[in-house]
Amino acid sequence: MINTEVIKLNPDFDSALILPAAEAIRSGELVAFPTETVYGLGANAFCETAIKKVFEVKGRPQDNPLIVHLSRLAHLTEIAINIPQIAYDLLDVFAPGPLTLILQKSDLIPEIVSAGLPTVAIRFPSDPIAQALIELAEVPIVAPSANLSGKPSPTQAWHVYQDLAGKIPYILDGGASDYGLESTIIDLSIADPVILRPGFITARDIKNVVGIDITEYQADQSGSKPDFQPKAPGQKYRHYSPRATVLILAENSNPTERLNNLLTGIEGFIRNKISDNNMKKDTTKEILVGLFLAEKLSKKLNLEYFKKYLYKSTCYNVGFKLESYNNQQGAAGAAHDLFNRFREFDRIRADLIICSAEQMDGAGIAYMNRLKKAADYEI
Ligand code: TXA
Ligand code: MG
Repeated sequence: MINTEVIKLNPDFDSALILPAAEAIRSGELVAFPTETVYGLGANAFCETAIKKVFEVKGRPQDNPLIVHLSRLAHLTEIAINIPQIAYDLLDVFAPGPLTLILQKSDLIPEIVSAGLPTVAIRFPSDPIAQALIELAEVPIVAPSANLSGKPSPTQAWHVYQDLAGKIPYILDGGASDYGLESTIIDLSIADPVILRPGFITARDIKNVVGIDITEYQADQSGSKPDFQPKAPGQKYRHYSPRATVLILAENSNPTERLNNLLTGIEGFIRNKISDNNMKKDTTKEILVGLFLAEKLSKKLNLEYFKKYLYKSTCYNVGFKLESYNNQQGAAGAAHDLFNRFREFDRIRADLIICSAEQMDGAGIAYMNRLKKAADYEI
């Protein structure tokens, strides 16, 4: 166990506060830091022993490559070779920001970073703390999301603390991440670019800049075919999973029907739970359900009626923790809060988490991608 120091940084932070963490990076230690997407677990990209620690600390499979984070465009050509024009066009518009490019890698990048692939993932974070850390460390920083492998990505410092306290010397706390979901990954190492992981920058946003249609890689197939080899190796692993069972409440233009599906979904979960576990009905125990629903829908929800109905039909007392998000302007609010709600619902030991589906448009594409990877089934 090592002592983990949390360094709290305000928006107008003094970069002297980051110096010890930058020094730690340079000398091969790990530092968790905020980015505009999610918190990253940083290590010196040129130091193999540090990178090995990243895999160890996260419990990350060795075949899952890491993203290299840079603070200056000028450093791109040290890390990548044969860079296509489209990369520069995209960086012009979206860097710094939540976009990761897959490019052919230079020899400077150790094999362990790219898990033996001939390519490297590169991103220019816009978060000032991330930028200051890279600048002060004077090396590129590899950073996967700062969670234990399989857990939801951290969007607040306490999420990182929960997973990594005692394992790393520093956590830089810059408050809640702006976006709350990981960067869009686009593969530019091949002739026809493909989005390997959807994020806030969408295929449509990219088309608006480069003028060509970009395929969105269907990573969701990974669950159904055991021999399926996704292009971003990370996509084949189960992700973003809270301890509780996660269900998706399917879209429905009729809110009454949708709420009815919610109720019967909870009822079905309780019945399955009883028969699966062969569990003697311990009806003294309350079943706790975390709900993450669009505000409009949650306003129509009558939880007292739900409780009474469920008690009658299952003999269990059901408790609810309701968290709403505003989706008037699309799914950005849902995407921003999803991982945080997962962690909060786990913290209060919810048995079941139900999240409403969003339309596959804008941020809704990335939101549904993460939700599907975490979810057990749809109701
Ligand atoms: O927003 C983000 O991208 C965050 C912040 C911290 O920057 N980072 C992040 O890293 O999400 P990570 O390691 O959790 O996810 C990186 C994904 C993995 O699915 C990995 O397989 C893929 O990027 N990846 C990395 N290098 C690759 C490469 N050369 N080719 C294809 N996929 C790659
Ligand atoms: Mg991750």
